[in-house]
Amino acid sequence: MCATIIPEKYMHYPVLLNEIVSIISPQYGGTFVDCTFGQGGYSLKLLDFPNTKVIALDRDKDTLKKAVNIKKNFEKRFFFKNLKFSQLNYLKIKNEYIKAIIFDLGYSYAQIKNQKKGLSFNSKGDLNMKMGLNDFSASDVINKLNEKELEKIFKIFGEERESKRIAREIVKERKTKKINTEDLVKIIEKTKRIKNYKIHCATKVFQALRIFVNKEISELIYGLINAIKILKQDGIIAIVSFHSIEDKIIKYFFKSLSEPKSVSRYMPKTISQKNLLKVVKKKPILPSLKEVKENPQSRSAKLRYAIKKSNFNDFETDILNKFKYLIDIENYSEKL
Ligand SMILES: C[S@@+](CC[C@H](N)C(=O)[O-])C[C@H]1O[C@@H](n2cnc3c(N)ncnc32)[C@H](O)[C@@H]1O
Repeated sequence: MCATIIPEKYMHYPVLLNEIVSIISPQYGGTFVDCTFGQGGYSLKLLDFPNTKVIALDRDKDTLKKAVNIKKNFEKRFFFKNLKFSQLNYLKIKNEYIKAIIFDLGYSYAQIKNQKKGLSFNSKGDLNMKMGLNDFSASDVINKLNEKELEKIFKIFGEERESKRIAREIVKERKTKKINTEDLVKIIEKTKRIKNYKIHCATKVFQALRIFVNKEISELIYGLINAIKILKQDGIIAIVSFHSIEDKIIKYFFKSLSEPKSVSRYMPKTISQKNLLKVVKKKPILPSLKEVKENPQSRSAKLRYAIKKSNFNDFETDILNKFKYLIDIENYSEKL
């Protein structure tokens, strides 16, 4: 038996909202980009302040309904686009002074509760997991990729210790039938030897599949790169993340653009073009005990932010090389 952690009673709750507000100061007005509109929690809060303008985007077209409603009330101050944030550069905002770009990564309450999206291990029917604007589904992944590839996805994107056994069992079972959501959960339940009663036994495999299907690694990397390009001097980038891979990428990106790299360990650190961002707090901001109590889903949230120090459009970054091993895994999808 596996433990179940879906907290039915918790409705949508914008994570670390007060902390975001205190960092980006909407009380003084300005234009903000909300890269993960979701159910509009952040956008609405920003629009509460007079003289603000919000440009919001989300890859999930189901968020459009909410966006249309907000537009009715804030016609001149709210704009929405169904777009992936890796394509932030497609926004026609060249002449805008963007005060802050915010990201609240992952999925919303509405998405996890939507059976058709199949993001939860409680879903029924075909495997899906597409958040929006995707090329393939979790069903393609589970039923078409080879054993080694599945193992790697579960191990690296889900940190699933029993990835090898699970991948082997999937490949064995799919010889007789196409695997759907219930089949996958059953395979994991019967295969896993190590029991963790705090989380459902399928949590890690489902997380891994979600990251893979939505190409969350390259989305984040290109989202970061394009956000920095769009911002002008003193513009802020603020990101809430929920798992260790995301935090590792954000932390590395900020660090690599805020700290001068030493050429060799025998040479003094040089002030170079690497000194492009200012990271005010090295440690991430975490939700308060009160927030975690009110919304247990927020317990793994981490907020990091940085300020652009000067006006530049282009910059060098080694982030794609640094995380090539993750992007190589995402690229297994090329054969789907
Ligand atoms: C945690 S929810 C955001 C909730 C929002 N802050 C609120 O208060 O309502 C994350 C949202 O980001 C969207 N999303 C995830 N990855 C995205 C991407 N690469 N591009 C655009 N939207 C994305 C999801 O579709 C989801 O609606």
